[in-house]
Amino acid sequence: MSTGSSSVAAYLVAALLFVLALAGLSRHESARRGNGFGIAGMAVALVATVLLAADGGIDALGAVLVVVAVVLGGAIGLRLAARVQMTGMPELIALLHSFVGLAAVLVGWNGYLHVEAHPGGAAAAGLDAAGLLGVHSAEVAIGVFVGGVTVTGSVVANLKLSARIASAPLVLPGKNLLNLGALVVFAVLTVWFVVSPQLWLLAAATVLALALGWHLVASIGGGDMPVVVSMLNSYSGWAAAASGFLLDNDLLIIVGALVGSSGAYLSYVMCAAMNRSFLSVIAGGFGIEAARSGEDPQGEHTEITAEGVADLLSRARSVVIAPGYGMAVAQAQHPVAQLDARLRERGVQVRYGIHPVAGRLPGHMNVLLAEAKVPYDIVLEMDEVNDDFATTDVVLVIGANDTVNPAAAEDPTSPIAGMPVLTVWHAADVVVFKRSMATGYAGVQNPLFFRDNTHMLFGDARTRVEDILEALRAPV
Ligand code: TAP
Repeated sequence: MSTGSSSVAAYLVAALLFVLALAGLSRHESARRGNGFGIAGMAVALVATVLLAADGGIDALGAVLVVVAVVLGGAIGLRLAARVQMTGMPELIALLHSFVGLAAVLVGWNGYLHVEAHPGGAAAAGLDAAGLLGVHSAEVAIGVFVGGVTVTGSVVANLKLSARIASAPLVLPGKNLLNLGALVVFAVLTVWFVVSPQLWLLAAATVLALALGWHLVASIGGGDMPVVVSMLNSYSGWAAAASGFLLDNDLLIIVGALVGSSGAYLSYVMCAAMNRSFLSVIAGGFGIEAARSGEDPQGEHTEITAEGVADLLSRARSVVIAPGYGMAVAQAQHPVAQLDARLRERGVQVRYGIHPVAGRLPGHMNVLLAEAKVPYDIVLEMDEVNDDFATTDVVLVIGANDTVNPAAAEDPTSPIAGMPVLTVWHAADVVVFKRSMATGYAGVQNPLFFRDNTHMLFGDARTRVEDILEALRAPV
């Protein structure tokens, strides 16, 4: 068998491994195996691609460049993966998407420079038959556009997630018209480029795509960022598929389509969970108007001490723990698990209520609680626990904020209005663990903190939970 046909067979194997990886990743129990399939698929794909390039007569300089790129990319990837904290994962993923977008832009430009801009390039690429060059030009324009939107969109998402720029949505006058106008201009540029491929047209499409990507994501508020990250994941897939068409690489087309469609579906599922309109979010916050300031003071709050919480807990018969991003920051999951075990030993009914977007990535809280060996059967999803708050004695809100904000349910003018939340305020007593009165990720003030049955326990969540454990140990 020639190298070419062995590589095609290897691509088929890699594609199947990627499908198995996605299937494995859909359930906790099989996720590790799914990851293994993904790694194996990528290894097969890399080797096959290098062999295919060698078969295509790659010169010595090209070979050296490929090796340097693989070694450098691998080293940077390993270093990043080893250093990243669980809480920093979404921003790293956003940054990685921008690389895929950038690759698609470069592949598009490379296609143009080798074919349309090169005398005899179309003939050399076998595109001199009627219509074929036009198809190539359309692929170039679309690949560059989708890639460009992904590059800047992902960079803005990274900056928002890492709090290096404000998470509030940017609301330019006529922002929806701007987005729509950009799409119309892109369509005109593409048709023009197909009819008469010129450098300035491609440059204009690139600049337009970069500006649109930046504006689309800047217009989306922090609360919708999880959806944005999975949407950019989808865009990066489509950008890769577009590159696959240009490079005539079947595996890239298949993998791009897998990533593109699974990312789009995940975005849709997340929107449904957060009661957000999918179309409104992917259209850059279409229909979402300027938010009111989140910092208005909302009344007086009541503070409590760790001893006071221990006292509440020693009288409680049912307790729900609602963890959030702050539990991850404080790494409080181990003392929280000890506290829940202590309470259960005393005959208290303890459960966890997990909001679908608590923390900074899907399943964030479940991973932390599993790490602390909290039994699965007491970790409930939001819908399973929401009806029980009215009969709950004490809710411990540990570093959660937006996900327990009553404004989402009660204030139609709130920027997070309509997002389902854990209705913790129906419990007899609510204790909120946080370090200050600062807002949560969406930048919205939380009226929960000012309710009569809410007690604020200030300080690092881990230290405070340890203080409560200490107080529970003390003889009464
Ligand atoms: P947030 O609304 O982000 O609130 C976290 C709270 O933890 C803050 O109010 C903060 O208050 C407190 N905190 C931080 N460090 C702490 C520490 N060491 N000890 C005690 N408290 C600490 O969290 P949430 O309720 O989990 O909501 C998640 C938010 O992130 C949502 O808006 C969601 O849309 C967004 N988001 C989610 C995802 C996914 S997929 N889960 C991805 C990206 C964004 P202090 O600063 O006063 O301590």
